[in-house]
Amino acid sequence: MSGKEDIKNLLKISGYSNIAIEYFLEKVNVGKIDNPDAYFVHTGPCGDTMEISLAIEPDSKVIKEAKFQAIGCAGAFSSGSAITEMIKGKTIEQAEKIEEEDVIDWLGGIPGQKIHCTCLAKKTLKFALNEYK
Ligand code: FES
Repeated sequence: MSGKEDIKNLLKISGYSNIAIEYFLEKVNVGKIDNPDAYFVHTGPCGDTMEISLAIEPDSKVIKEAKFQAIGCAGAFSSGSAITEMIKGKTIEQAEKIEEEDVIDWLGGIPGQKIHCTCLAKKTLKFALNEYK
């Protein structure tokens, strides 16, 4: 069995959905935007840190691009990928309304002990959007 398959199985056993596993393994939207219009780094109560950078169209306030980086667990990475996917093409106002439950629904569930990791992604996004305003 390949290393990737091993990790996939471990994540499955831990209770991660197929989409969460794919986001984590494929590192969807992991990176940093050069000269972002909005940017924030936030450390959650678990001690893990997420950074979100956004490119925003100034007139329409539509989020054109969204990237994140994290020092954190699979929950942080799958939530970061999900939230950045969800907000692309949305206005700032629409993105602000996204809650943990929406991210968890998008992922098709997340292990119960990992809900705070989704909260880290949501909070980092909210802080980045506030900073833009
Ligand atoms: Fe800290 Fe998941 S345990 S973000």
